[in-house]
Amino acid sequence: MTFYVTTPIYYANSLPHLGHLYTMIVVDTIARQKRQQGIETFFLTGTDEHGINIERAAKRNNRSPKEQADYVVGYYKKMTAAFGLDTSHGGYDIFMRTTAPFHYEGVSELWRRLAKAKTPKGNDALYKGHYEGWFCAACAEFKSEEEYQKPENPDDPPSCLIHETKLDRVSEESYFFRLSDFDQALLKLYEERLDFVQPEARRNEVKSFVGGGLQDLSVSRLKSSVSWGIPVPDDPKHTIYVWFEALTNYITAIGFGNQQQDRAVGFEKFWPALHVVGKDILRFHAVYWPAFLMAAGVEQPRAIVAHGMWVDPTGRKMSKTLGNTIELDVLNKFFPIDAVRYFCLREMVFGQDGRFGYENLIDRTNSDLASGLGNLSSRTLTMIQRYCDGHIPGANISDEARLSAKRAGVEDEAAIRDFLSHARDEFVRYFEALAFSKGLEEAWAIVARTDKMISDAKPWELAKDSGQRQTLNAVLYRAAETLRWLAVMLYPAMPEAAREIYAGLGLSDDPGKINPTDLKWGGLAEDTSIGEIKPLFPRIEKAKTMEEIKEDSTDTSQTPAAAETETHASVAGSGQHATEADAVPGVASYIDINDFAKVELRVGEVRTAERIPKADKLLLITVDIGEAQPRQILAGIAQYYEPEKLVGRKIVVVANLKPRKLRGYESQGMLLAASIGEEGKPVIATFAEDVPNGARLK
Ligand code: MSP
Repeated sequence: MTFYVTTPIYYANSLPHLGHLYTMIVVDTIARQKRQQGIETFFLTGTDEHGINIERAAKRNNRSPKEQADYVVGYYKKMTAAFGLDTSHGGYDIFMRTTAPFHYEGVSELWRRLAKAKTPKGNDALYKGHYEGWFCAACAEFKSEEEYQKPENPDDPPSCLIHETKLDRVSEESYFFRLSDFDQALLKLYEERLDFVQPEARRNEVKSFVGGGLQDLSVSRLKSSVSWGIPVPDDPKHTIYVWFEALTNYITAIGFGNQQQDRAVGFEKFWPALHVVGKDILRFHAVYWPAFLMAAGVEQPRAIVAHGMWVDPTGRKMSKTLGNTIELDVLNKFFPIDAVRYFCLREMVFGQDGRFGYENLIDRTNSDLASGLGNLSSRTLTMIQRYCDGHIPGANISDEARLSAKRAGVEDEAAIRDFLSHARDEFVRYFEALAFSKGLEEAWAIVARTDKMISDAKPWELAKDSGQRQTLNAVLYRAAETLRWLAVMLYPAMPEAAREIYAGLGLSDDPGKINPTDLKWGGLAEDTSIGEIKPLFPRIEKAKTMEEIKEDSTDTSQTPAAAETETHASVAGSGQHATEADAVPGVASYIDINDFAKVELRVGEVRTAERIPKADKLLLITVDIGEAQPRQILAGIAQYYEPEKLVGRKIVVVANLKPRKLRGYESQGMLLAASIGEEGKPVIATFAEDVPNGARLK
């Protein structure tokens, strides 16, 4: 039996952040779980290196596209090693790069097959036509009307709802994939295989998207507009659309279209794959990809599972373009790998969005790991060291000692065994269903129960009475054996901690090779001499660490203090994609005090405020900032603030912003507001004390 599991391949235009790490942690957990069960597993991750996005990033950084990709890949490799996700740490089996020659061959092969293929309705699967539409470079896709934000000024281009950046108008000759002929076949697939798209809520979304009818998909761009890519076979004027090419990596990686790669890995051996993806790219995986495969006559994936997004503490999706990411360097420096893994798996209910803040991570690390699992392990081992001379004691309680053991709160072995076996079964079931959070809750119920047994039995008291020797031994054996079970169970989620617990118990085998369902109570042999006692998860000093993290982070915009309310763009949304220089601590992204001094922030008092006809978002306000005349400012806050209520309010104005015209009115500045939640609700910055108009903020 084999198992093939994939992360998406990550864009090589910018450096990874927590969102990217998360998909790897999830897939790594799945792969370790399968390997533990003795299943030969192939785990793919990698980078998506072609397309306009990478071309642009390369240009900004004065590199060739390949150099850009190499640079980002170098960072990925460094980070995957640092987080124990690479091959040498038992993580991925292939770091797939779409610039690999075998990929090129495999993609060409798939294209050729489609060029000859018919749709389920008997038409040619590929045809040539013209495409005109709004294209988001950051998403690398054309956007339909619901997917973009219309501009305030009809002459301006719309913006991408995800990236808040301007879209490009693109019209050109293009090859099309006749997706519109695949709706019935896809719906049949979703009906026949209920677990094909998971979780169920996402499956329903996909079904209703397909049920609403599908449009043909443009699958090439002219080489003159996108040159960094794989040419269409026999028509090199065209470059294959990056998503078509990227999705194909899942089969080229294991040998589709290239014999050498096939011999090295094995297409027949490993296909079909389980694809783990973020919900933002589900449509590509659950609609387009199955349709391509159907047309080419290739077997469908095992399933496609979509996880939610990490959002920042204000609720916005974490992304480079928004500048609110959690940086991997910082995470790696301040937190044990397994604390990050635990947090990611425990805190995000798989499928739903999760909030990530360093403070939560510190709190969870301290409560669940330092005081929870870590403390259970170190107190157990310390007591075995102290009271049993560093040897695992015997578990047996003679008939005479049974009563006093019971009085001390020591359970029968049968009761513990039944409880543990049940909890283990639940844990495995949850993990197989990708309900990691629930599984970990089960495991922590074991930690709590064992802790309680120790606290009730008070081994330190028992140790004072030689008549209680058996009871003392029994408590410590039960705790140690439970730890052994926990180590095996938790291995897929926390491999390092599992190995340390194992070694601490004096065991030399690898918990990564023990199938948790094979665990039997009593497997820990009496008299085993325990290993070195190390604190598993040292407590993290919150205030001090938060300070240090702040100093180390380049991304200070996690809680944006200000937003350009004219456009609702957060202050971080500069309209430019962040380059990797922005993400490397200490490089290029700090401003110095002189830069800041260029921004003239002044206290103002709102004199008048009114709505503007036909502009539901804009308010026209006049503000006294201590000048001869009040300033006229347009603010995009009309959906959240009644104009009357603003009059008399003190606000903060960017006074030296170049005036600009919106809807025929000149805006002579900008007011500051926080931007809250995914929709960027503005909350105006104000003062608790009385301040004179015109006072400068510095
Ligand atoms: N290159 C495409 C995927 C092609 S797969 C054939 C792509 N790359 S990406 O770098 O933008 O994203 C890769 C993965 O990271 C996606 O699954 C995406 O959902 C995930 N994440 C990016 N930001 C994320 C969060 N803030 N939270 C969770 N996952 C996120 O899309």
